[in-house]
Amino acid sequence: MQNISIKTVEYESPQMNKGISCVASAWARVPVAPSLEEKVALKERIKRLLKEKQAVLVAHYYTDGDLQDLAEETGGCVSDSLEMARFGRDHPAKTLVVAGVRFMGETAKILSPEKRILMPDLDATCSLDLGCPVDEFTAFCDAHPDRVVVVYANTSAAVKARADWMVTSSIGLQIVAHLHAQGKKIIWAPDKHLGQYIQSQTGADMLLWQGACLVHDEFKGIELELLMKEHPNAKVLVHPESPASVVALADVVGSTSQIIAAAQQLDAPEFIVATDRGIFHKMQQAVPGKRLIEAPTAGNSATCKSCANCPWMAMNSLANLAEVLETGKNEIHIDPEIGRKARTCIDRMLDFAAQQKKNVRPGGDLAKEGALFSGVGPA
Ligand code: 13P
Ligand code: SF4
Repeated sequence: MQNISIKTVEYESPQMNKGISCVASAWARVPVAPSLEEKVALKERIKRLLKEKQAVLVAHYYTDGDLQDLAEETGGCVSDSLEMARFGRDHPAKTLVVAGVRFMGETAKILSPEKRILMPDLDATCSLDLGCPVDEFTAFCDAHPDRVVVVYANTSAAVKARADWMVTSSIGLQIVAHLHAQGKKIIWAPDKHLGQYIQSQTGADMLLWQGACLVHDEFKGIELELLMKEHPNAKVLVHPESPASVVALADVVGSTSQIIAAAQQLDAPEFIVATDRGIFHKMQQAVPGKRLIEAPTAGNSATCKSCANCPWMAMNSLANLAEVLETGKNEIHIDPEIGRKARTCIDRMLDFAAQQKKNVRPGGDLAKEGALFSGVGPA
């Protein structure tokens, strides 16, 4: 089936040249790294505040390693977007501090409107979210009323409110395959690379919005091939927000959690990893004896606006985390009507994920089935 490109959104589109949505402004806002003594003091302060405020820390793998360690040490969670959503919803704490980007905090609020959701910096956004303004997206959906609307988690609450399903990178493929099997035609937004990958794997009829992640869009297929020649024993692990030329070279395509699981499960001494370099912190802890190599972003046509490091994820720091816990500032608020509508599409995904888990037969080859469930397998 031929993909029909409906919408082109450039990264440095007008709305991305203003304020914090401009990459340079985001980098300028990244807090200065603390000294060792400051770090120790900040960590102690945060641990005390988390207890005092009965709060729990939920962090993404791309955030600073100290934040990830703190989340784990204090009974919070470090994970991909799907697990962050699930963990936040199910945890009894009345306050969640979400270290990541805006859509992650919004998803937590939509799923738990009664909880207080704080973020270290509310301006930490995402190029996919920025590239999918709700008015244009609504017009796009309205023009194709015969299609089921599937949106990636990396979107605003208002865009989710217009969608039938929300998916994350760890489960998007299974959900689209499920819809395709029911004969449904799909609108997909906003990540064109993830949409193209899912379309190629499922054969579903998908209209693709043309957004991209400014981190993953920079990985280079030609340069990756050269690197693979230098490391013939390395397996290649790729996040599906990467371009098709990179995905085509992958041994495993998956979400951040699935990439870490693959490194643990696959019998290889080295891995070339195409995703934000923040993942190396937890990944190296998970496979201490294995060598992890960054996939190339340099080479022909390189711009290196991010060099495999998300500027908005980097805005999360120990200092602004301590400050929001102390002051209660940076709370996420969502219009209740939008939140209620957006919840339906997130709940659909979470129910589907729960159902998939149930369908894994007990008594089978658990290692193999576990791998299949988590989407670890050849591209
Ligand atoms: P994951 O759900 O795979 O963690 O991805 C989130 C994200 O923003 C990747 O760029
Ligand atoms: Fe968005 Fe890309 Fe940053 Fe993830 S890495 S938050 S998709 S800009």
